[in-house]
Amino acid sequence: MRLDKYISDAMQISRTDARKLITKASICVNGQVCRKADTQLSPTDVVSCEGQPLEQREEFVYIMLNKPLGVVSASNDKRDTTVVDLLQGSFPRRTLFPAGRLDKTSTGFILLTDDGKFAHEILAPKKHIEKEYLVTIDTPFTPEMQQGFAQGVTLADGTRLAPATASATEDACKVCVVLTQGVYHQIKRMFGVYGAGVNELHRLRMGELYLDENLAAGEWRKLTVQEIQKICSRPVKR
Ligand code: URA
Repeated sequence: MRLDKYISDAMQISRTDARKLITKASICVNGQVCRKADTQLSPTDVVSCEGQPLEQREEFVYIMLNKPLGVVSASNDKRDTTVVDLLQGSFPRRTLFPAGRLDKTSTGFILLTDDGKFAHEILAPKKHIEKEYLVTIDTPFTPEMQQGFAQGVTLADGTRLAPATASATEDACKVCVVLTQGVYHQIKRMFGVYGAGVNELHRLRMGELYLDENLAAGEWRKLTVQEIQKICSRPVKR
């Protein structure tokens, strides 16, 4: 990549302003002042501006967020706080959106990105990406529920769902549910078929990636390339 483009991408400034910095001798390549805007950089070259190393801007951003109760999985909303609001303007030049939804009353793992293709891949029904939830119901979990989930529940409106895994935990009312589908209010409606209400629903995992236990409700962090690939095997550009 040309030096002026690299600076403009990394510093989020125009190419004209990048060239001004080069003219002012503010830019070094591998420790040497470089005055040629059209210098072609190799991947190992280190560029700095007034002594500060410049990192190339990532093409896309991928964020893991622990959604709190009462926050909506949307980019903007007139009444409620959204998952994008929780990023507090940390990515001013990007349009981030949630890749997948959780109900307002659900909590846990939400993925935010500006990579539309990636979001499409992980949400595509034919990809069957697993999502794991810890669900608290208002009645003890029964073998009938477990078998019904495994066979594929038929919802009250006649929708026939794909088989899902439901496993008991030490608490009779807490169930670990793994889905490969994303139907509106799916888990609540599945338990509803057995007359059970859902009190709490927390997403723990997407693909092979677990929600970081160090993230308190409302906290977030960027994913590493390795983590992104645990959700979706498509090569990720950064
Ligand atoms: N199923 C639900 O009912 N709600 C969610 O938020 C996610 C899955």
